[in-house]
Amino acid sequence: MRLSPEFRKQFIQYELRTYGRKNGFVTTGQEERLLRWLPKIGLPKEMTLADADIPSASPIVMEIGFGNGDFLVHLASMHPDWTLIGVEIYLPGVAKAVGRLEDAGVIERCRITQLPAQFVLQHQVAEEQLDGVYINHPDPWPKPRHHKRRLIQKDFALLLVSRVKKGGFIKLASDKPDLAEWMRDILDATPGLRNVAGVGGFIPRDEDRLETKFEQRGHKEGRSSQFLHYIKETT
Ligand SMILES: C[S@@+](CC[C@H](N)C(=O)[O-])C[C@H]1O[C@@H](n2cnc3c(N)ncnc32)[C@H](O)[C@@H]1O
Repeated sequence: MRLSPEFRKQFIQYELRTYGRKNGFVTTGQEERLLRWLPKIGLPKEMTLADADIPSASPIVMEIGFGNGDFLVHLASMHPDWTLIGVEIYLPGVAKAVGRLEDAGVIERCRITQLPAQFVLQHQVAEEQLDGVYINHPDPWPKPRHHKRRLIQKDFALLLVSRVKKGGFIKLASDKPDLAEWMRDILDATPGLRNVAGVGGFIPRDEDRLETKFEQRGHKEGRSSQFLHYIKETT
């Protein structure tokens, strides 16, 4: 069963500009799962989180750039009361995540979108609607001329903070020291955020944290990751 042009138009977006890869191979079995689940848990462009049938008492936590979805499964298993919003532009990643979330029996507590995080935060999430956000190993774009492609930028940080509730958290990880310091310097300078480790600091790795694919990759290549934890101030 193939994804119809109408289905693609609704749930799979190519026209919004991003710097990462969006397209790639998806198996027929994965397409079947996308067809089954995205109409229930997908967030088409016109929909906001307010329309996404989220239980009112449930904390809403977002993961941006979830890759293959393993960390989403981990979060959903650790926090049975959370509703998870997964944002990932790479279609094969979305397809893998839908399969893993379904197999783990947690998919109904997730909302998944293939739209870029910048669009989702700007148009689909209201101010102070999120209890927390995870960003694990965003693309490093190592060449200085590509630094402007990095996800964490001053404007993006302001948008992100505006979507998090007072007292809510933003947690980030990177195995690339240069990127970890870039993210820390921008977020340390963003009004309304407090670095839990103190300005300029990193937190120790949470002991119960799942190693994501990119954390494992960094490990194999001899790099240890660095972790950031911010709280949105209440005043
Ligand atoms: C280096 S991978 C890390 C994947 C996973 N978080 C991990 O730690 O293994 C970065 C991911 O961010 C996604 N990404 C890049 N730009 C994005 C954007 N604007 N919105 C959402 N996801 C994005 C990429 O497609 C990719 O899957």
